[in-house]
Amino acid sequence: MAIRNVREMGEDVLNKACKEVREVTPRIQELIDDMLDTMYESAGVGLAAPQVGILKRIVVIDVTGEDPYVMINPKIIEQSGEQRGYEACLSVPGKTGIVTRPGYVKAVAYNENMEPYEIEATELLARAICHELDHLDGHLYVEKVEGPLRNSEEVEEE
Ligand code: NI
Repeated sequence: MAIRNVREMGEDVLNKACKEVREVTPRIQELIDDMLDTMYESAGVGLAAPQVGILKRIVVIDVTGEDPYVMINPKIIEQSGEQRGYEACLSVPGKTGIVTRPGYVKAVAYNENMEPYEIEATELLARAICHELDHLDGHLYVEKVEGPLRNSEEVEEE
């Protein structure tokens, strides 16, 4: 397990569509383990493979710090409602902005054993799923920010 270098906005790898994963090889397992380490080390709630420079459809999410989801080839199959709130990204350090996301999402994905599963989410987990899946298609939340992109420190002080 190792901490990987998180790529930042402006690097091409963050604007590309990722490829589907066919099998979890030892190399992919190592990538997943490193992504989890890197997410926890950076105190993030999610991380997508392109953020560590790998164009594969893999994300890790943990909004509580003790309940990690590994999502391979994830897809949102249902969504409804909306939530509006501040969002941030490890690839856009020190910044935050308001993004409207669905209030509820249902997604399908494969776990590390390539077993399919379904996940239903609201609140922060729904937001994180939408945010991370956007990364797999080369999109950053800054494209969806309503109003200015702000410094996170300023917003935290409010
Ligand atoms: Ni992000």
